[in-house]
Amino acid sequence: MIENILNQKNIDEDRQGEALFNPASLKNNGKKLFLESYGCAMNFADSEIVAAVLIEKGYVTTQDESEADVILVNTCAIRDNAEVRVRKRLTEFRKRKVTKPWLIVGVLGCMAERIKTQLLDEEKLVDLVVGPDAYRDLPNLVEEVSGGQKAVNVLLSREETYADITPVRLDQNGVTAFVSITRGCDNMCSFCVVPFTRGRERSRDYKSIVKEVQVLIEQGYKEVTLLGQNVDSYRWNLTKKGEIENLEDETVNFAQLLEKVALVDANLRVRFSTSHPKDLGDDVLETMAKYDNICKHVHLPVQSGSSAVLERMNRGYSREWYLNRIAAIKRILPTSSITTDIIIGFCGETEEEHQETLSLMDEVQFDFAYMYKYSERPKTLAERKFQDDIPESVKQRRLEEVIEKQHFYGLQKNQSSIGDICEVLVENVSKKSQDEMGGRNTQNKVIIFPRMNVQKGEFTQVKITNCTKATLIGEIISTNN
Ligand code: 5AD
Ligand code: SF4
Repeated sequence: MIENILNQKNIDEDRQGEALFNPASLKNNGKKLFLESYGCAMNFADSEIVAAVLIEKGYVTTQDESEADVILVNTCAIRDNAEVRVRKRLTEFRKRKVTKPWLIVGVLGCMAERIKTQLLDEEKLVDLVVGPDAYRDLPNLVEEVSGGQKAVNVLLSREETYADITPVRLDQNGVTAFVSITRGCDNMCSFCVVPFTRGRERSRDYKSIVKEVQVLIEQGYKEVTLLGQNVDSYRWNLTKKGEIENLEDETVNFAQLLEKVALVDANLRVRFSTSHPKDLGDDVLETMAKYDNICKHVHLPVQSGSSAVLERMNRGYSREWYLNRIAAIKRILPTSSITTDIIIGFCGETEEEHQETLSLMDEVQFDFAYMYKYSERPKTLAERKFQDDIPESVKQRRLEEVIEKQHFYGLQKNQSSIGDICEVLVENVSKKSQDEMGGRNTQNKVIIFPRMNVQKGEFTQVKITNCTKATLIGEIISTNN
């Protein structure tokens, strides 16, 4: 899905299998850790917590799986194909034990939480199973496995936010970083397994978020993406009913948190993901408008253009409500890009309901969309209540129609920006050519341009000269630093 040299940051399983690496270790216990992550940005952020916990105990990370003593796979369970991919990888890792019997293979994250001991007891693919709220326990669990025991911790927590753990940055660009602000989800969208795998929603102390951002700036980072399953429901020191919990502490909602982070440094770019249409308020949009360094991009998953389907999905909003939120974005942030997630072929989706998704796409004209065929997930409300009754061939045909429409608007939007000059944060050398660099503009559009003498981490003015449906191509006008 994302073939660009830079990954767009979104909650989906298509950032797959990136091996993570950090050379620094304080005290070396002689054991090498290979960490591979699948799925959403939250998983990538969690892997940085996992690395921090194990590096603290003397592990050294490696990018070479053949030299690892411990292999951990941080997994995604959102669609069946995500799990198929992980099983294949675990099977490969398992084979390494033939020549290296001491090798420990562990499964972390959403798939671990969803099927718990199945991968250990029945499928015998792993030695270790650890859910998303149990990473502090990893050193003990790895020790238990070394001692010949099986080790499992899939307890979910109502409090764990890992607020006090400074993540070890495993990305390789040193320019952009993820910062988790909430964990879990209370929404219970009927198709979604996340509330079962990541547990109840909880917000992290804003003070630890601001501190983490300050440290990132000191380390030279130029952009942060605040992460949560539903960032708009961030609240510190407030109950769901809006009551203050602790009179001594400040109360902070998402718009206020965004402002606090934007104020840390006017040169730091701030992004966030993911917003929920039912909770995205004008206050958040107004805060985005107020600060130049908050990027003008809203990712607002619609899932379907039909109010009846949205009702079955338990999304908590109608087509009209969604379009009202889009109108608010276009009014308050006229230059903002808007991206979305769409599910095709949800239970009982009629041809008319599918047409409503297509017509909503015509109305909104998204800059980019992640488009998925519905995949039934065990234990979800939809699995219990509805039949997954849309034949695969129909799902496929509808998906192709949705993709075709999105490609049309994606290309049209990109073409309309030819001739524009925009500020780009340089992130990386292109994978395709050493002579090209890549970065993103405030709208989160990937832009490729000839390298010249710019370095990653620099802001540069780029004139757009050409495009594809997914990427803008440009040339440098001037650098800002
Ligand atoms: N089937 C297909 N897509 C799903 N998503 C979540 N659950 C499912 C499912 N069961 C999609 C939604 C969500 C994105 C992260 O993944 O579009 O916004
Ligand atoms: Fe899943 Fe809905 Fe929560 Fe997103 S908001 S994680 S789709 S339950």
